[in-house]
Amino acid sequence: MFNDFVQAFNAHIDNVLSQIADSNVKDAMRYALEAGGKRLRPYLVFAMTCQNQNDLNVMNLAYALEMVHTYSLVHDDLPAMDNDDYRRGQLTTHKRFDEATAILAGDALLTQAFQIITKLNLKSDDIVSAVNILSEASGANGMILGQVLDIQNDTNQANQISDLYKLYAFKTGCLFSAALRLGNLLNSKREDESQLDQIGKKLGIVFQIQDDYLERTSTFDVIGKSNQSDLNNHKNTVIEFLGLERSKLSINELYDELNRDIMLLNETYPKLLDIVHWMKDRIK
Ligand code: IPE
Ligand code: IPE
Ligand code: MG
Ligand code: MG
Repeated sequence: MFNDFVQAFNAHIDNVLSQIADSNVKDAMRYALEAGGKRLRPYLVFAMTCQNQNDLNVMNLAYALEMVHTYSLVHDDLPAMDNDDYRRGQLTTHKRFDEATAILAGDALLTQAFQIITKLNLKSDDIVSAVNILSEASGANGMILGQVLDIQNDTNQANQISDLYKLYAFKTGCLFSAALRLGNLLNSKREDESQLDQIGKKLGIVFQIQDDYLERTSTFDVIGKSNQSDLNNHKNTVIEFLGLERSKLSINELYDELNRDIMLLNETYPKLLDIVHWMKDRIK
C-alpha cells in the first residue's frame, strides 16, 4: 500500500548518508538504516500532511524521525539492554560491527536527526517547534522514560496492566505521537496538538501490544527478530495479563477506536485511516 513512499524514502536515505564522512560508524549507520524496517513512523508523517511525497520537508522530517527510531533500536539491542542478535532479519548492529561502533552509530543517528531538522525549508518558528517535538518525544520525558520503565519491568515485580500501558505509551507511543505532530507542522490548517498526541500514544500502545503478540505467535522469518526476547529478559507484557485471545480482542478494539478518533479530527486523512487499517491487518 505504501510501497511508492517507501521507495522514495529509501532513496532519500541513501542521498543523505552520502553526505557523511566515511568511517566504520557511517557504515554502521547505513547498515542499521538500510536493513529495511517497515518505515511506519516516516509514513505516518506523510499520512498526516497534505503535501505530496516528493516534498523535501516531508522527506526530511520523516527521515529525522526514522533516524531517532533506528538509533533507539540499535541501543535497545545492545547486551546491556535487550541483548538481541537479530533485527530486521539481519544481525544486530553490535553483532555485525562491535559494541563501541553500535553505540557511536546510535549517537550519530540521534544527533544528525536534529541537524537535518535545522535545514528544513520552514519558518524558524516551525523549525524550533520540530526540534521541540522530536527532543521531547525521544528524551527523558518521552521514549527514554519508556525504556527506563522497561528496564525496571520484570516478571518478578508485581506490576499492574496499567503500568504496562504507561510504559508502552512512552517507549513506543511517543515516537508515533511525534510522527503525527511533525506531519501536522507542514499543514496550513493544523489539528489540535493534544488530540494528535493522544492518538499517537494510543497507536503506540496498540502497536506494542501487537508486537508482543507477534513475538509469541510468529516466527523469525516473519518478524525478522528473536521471538524469545521478552521471555529471555523476563519481561512482563500485556500478553501475560490478558492471554493471547483477549489481547487480540483488545488490539482490534483499540484499532477501531483509533479509526473513530481519526475521523473526529477537523480535516480528513485518508492515508492515516489506510495505514491504521494496514496495521490492524497484521494480525488476522
Ligand atoms: C520496533 O518497531 C520497536 C517497537 C516499538 C515494537 P517497528 O516494528 O516499527 O520496527 P521496524 O522499523 O519495522 O524495524
Ligand atoms: C523497543 O521495544 C522500543 C524502543 C527501542 C524504544 P522492544 O524492545 O519491546 O522492541 P523489540 O522487540 O526489540 O523490537
Ligand atoms: Mg526493549
Ligand atoms: Mg528489544
